[in-house]
Amino acid sequence: MNVLFVTSECVPFFKLGGLGDVSYALPVALQKLNINVRIVMPYYESINLPHQAKCVGQLAVDYDRRRELVFVFEIVIPGTHIPVYLFRHPKLNEYVGDDIAQTFAFFSKAVVSWYVLSSHLFGGPYDIIHCHDWHTALVPLLLGENRKVIQGKETTLQARAARTILTIHNLLYQGETGVGVVLRLGLQKPQFHIFTTPLGRAVKLLREGLEYADMVTTVSPTYAREIARGHHGDSIQALLAKRKDRLVGILNGIDTGIWNPKTDSLLPVHYSRGTVMTAKPELKAHLQKALRLPSGDALLFGFVGRLEEQQKGIELIIRAVPHLADRLFQIAILGTGAARQVKKLKKLAKRNPNITFIHTFDERLARRIYAGADVLLVPSKFEPCGLTQLIAMRYGTLPLVRKTGGLADTVVDGKTGFVFRQYTSAALAAKMREAIDLRRENVSDWWKMVASAMKQDFSWDMSAKKYLDLYQTILKT
Ligand code: GLC
Repeated sequence: MNVLFVTSECVPFFKLGGLGDVSYALPVALQKLNINVRIVMPYYESINLPHQAKCVGQLAVDYDRRRELVFVFEIVIPGTHIPVYLFRHPKLNEYVGDDIAQTFAFFSKAVVSWYVLSSHLFGGPYDIIHCHDWHTALVPLLLGENRKVIQGKETTLQARAARTILTIHNLLYQGETGVGVVLRLGLQKPQFHIFTTPLGRAVKLLREGLEYADMVTTVSPTYAREIARGHHGDSIQALLAKRKDRLVGILNGIDTGIWNPKTDSLLPVHYSRGTVMTAKPELKAHLQKALRLPSGDALLFGFVGRLEEQQKGIELIIRAVPHLADRLFQIAILGTGAARQVKKLKKLAKRNPNITFIHTFDERLARRIYAGADVLLVPSKFEPCGLTQLIAMRYGTLPLVRKTGGLADTVVDGKTGFVFRQYTSAALAAKMREAIDLRRENVSDWWKMVASAMKQDFSWDMSAKKYLDLYQTILKT
């Protein structure tokens, strides 16, 4: 089976969030199941390549009434046999921009033009085209159009129509842009769901993907149920309801080779389930020293992630702190993001010597927090899957999460971590207090929980099998 992953990010070349990890780890796991999987993504200027990519072709793409020339480069993901095709064009130089939806509309059109004309030269023809998030959500629509053109002619190699899957990693981002994109793509307005905004008529690229993809998946069963009920992204609810039978949640995994406390080269001490009790205090002491936190036994909470205002629950952490004044604890927060959150966190750290905020993204420090903290905070308002709680468990750090999306599917309260329900600072503070008290008063239960957290299997193997089943099912339809 030939599968093409179409994505905006992929580790180790370019990563903004969890999608970058998934675009790497899922293909690796699929390849173990004998699937020929290849990846296509833009060749950003800031991309991080281990060596030069090889130019393997060029491609004409009609966009905005002009013929644009896109160069296709190929590189293999280090340590794997997975080829990645990088599309180079001035429109694809940067991920950011005033209207990045236009960037990805162009990219999607380029991918489909390439698929139709020459993908059979590069591991195709593909049976499945697997798209991710709004960025590449136009591919199913564009492909449908090409299918019509192809089917009018003699059967060609490419006419073997691929099936499409769209995976939603976060419904918060829907790729909204002005309606002008329709004409630039050379399409007709009735094909799109156009709506009116104060700034004029607009479309959402994600919405089109939800409509046209053969199958829609998201990254945990609970999040799939939540979005089908309209908990997030109201305007899309009706559409999701219509496609309910085509929406499934498959839990993400983590690459257990990359995330392994026995071998992680960025850790000062290596450990396993058998040695965690002696390694942890050492790791914690290292971390406290590196972060200039007072040494000692205060329970250390960590937070690693994007300081995303609407999702990650930073606000709750800030407001929970005063509720904990009667307890001994420390918090280490690592991340970058929204300016407002940064300002508030700086203020919080300035006022509290037991709280430190590191405003950067530093892989080494992130790993030292996953390993050295006692508890990892993930108090998200919503969380499609979440990867940090999985990493924390693997590293023997108990996650403290809100019961939502993938967090609800992966952490069991009192067994592998701590789970609270209400999205309020009081509910978070109550759980934090529970963790502090358990650690102080019942150390043996604590270590039992650590052991059972470390025992969980969050490898990709099971999820990759579920994707394979899904691929097989839609190929039969
Ligand atoms: C997004 C989601 C996160 C998920 C990741 C990978 O970043 O916010 O919950 O784990 O995508 O699917």
